[in-house]
Amino acid sequence: MVNDITNQINALKNQFKTTLKAVVTEHALENLRIEFLGRKGHIAALMKQLKTLTLEEKQAIGPLINELKQDIEKEYDLKKQMLLEKNMQQAALKQQNFDVTAYKPKPLQSSLHIYTHLIERLENIFIAMGYEITDGPEVETDYYNFEALNIPADHPARELHDTFWLHIPNMLLRTHTSTVQAHAMEANGPPLALFAPGRCYRNEATDASHDFMFMQAEGLVIDKDISMAHLLATAQNFLQEFFEKKDLNIRVRPGYFPFVEPGVEIDASCPFCTTGCSVCKKTGWIELLGAGLVHPNVLQCSGIDPEHYSGFAFGCGLERLAMIKHGIYDIRLFRSSKINVLKQF
Ligand code: FA5
Repeated sequence: MVNDITNQINALKNQFKTTLKAVVTEHALENLRIEFLGRKGHIAALMKQLKTLTLEEKQAIGPLINELKQDIEKEYDLKKQMLLEKNMQQAALKQQNFDVTAYKPKPLQSSLHIYTHLIERLENIFIAMGYEITDGPEVETDYYNFEALNIPADHPARELHDTFWLHIPNMLLRTHTSTVQAHAMEANGPPLALFAPGRCYRNEATDASHDFMFMQAEGLVIDKDISMAHLLATAQNFLQEFFEKKDLNIRVRPGYFPFVEPGVEIDASCPFCTTGCSVCKKTGWIELLGAGLVHPNVLQCSGIDPEHYSGFAFGCGLERLAMIKHGIYDIRLFRSSKINVLKQF
């Protein structure tokens, strides 16, 4: 029995030494202390065994157990002190070399709204062609929305615009960006080359391609000898740039807008196919621009002599352009907060 306990004491001494060497944290050291010195630890177990010995045996073995306990406590204290110092040194070092950017929270990923992308892209195309970017008020007068555009009060074309009238006489939410025409002509006079994207409003029932609030852009050029050739070259160049398709063609059909004469609708050859697809509804052509040569009445109304100056104007729906280009199937997605849609742009 005595030999057995002596062997245990020696084994525990060695076990403690080797385990202690591997300890590198205060937590592991505390676990080791509990394992050896705790109430149910190895030393306590040895003490229990003492009870089974004779008095003489107790006198021989007792001091050995005490010695082991003291050794363990001493080594434990030393190691604890050592770890404490090491931790303090590391903390001091960390403070010394504190990197303020190391814990910077990851910024939320964000992106520009599709409207912003679209308008920037369109503006860049027209700036490159020498146009000035301009805008006009969204709350307009009857004059700028209709009268100055050759649409007098009794003109049937007013029926085409489902207008939001305000409770202020002759005031409305503009139904198209053509309103900027008279503003610009009055303010600056010819020569003019402007591009004006902006919000418009029509009191229409909404569906996948119509909204009560939408974006249009107006192009207007006024100078001497401006002709249909200038309009068509500009429209083709613009659409080629926008759809990134150098061989994109245009075709022209007659169209009626009271503020242009002649008025035309400009279609682009489908940028996505040669033989017909779902975007062009198997026709190979896509309707994109309303346009024409500025009506002499419009020039005159803004104080420009139609005998000396002529011009062209065109207008388009911006959502329509983006829907075709990016395959967006519903105009209402532009103003929705669906993050999986918005994230794509
Ligand atoms: C006009 O508004 C003319 N001012 C365009 C113009 C300018 C013609 C200069 C000639 C010279 P229209 O009503 O067709 O035209 O509208 C032009 C485009 O605006 C449409 O093709 C469509 O893309 C867009 N649009 C019109 N109404 C809505 C609506 N409710 N929702 C979304 N887009 C619309």
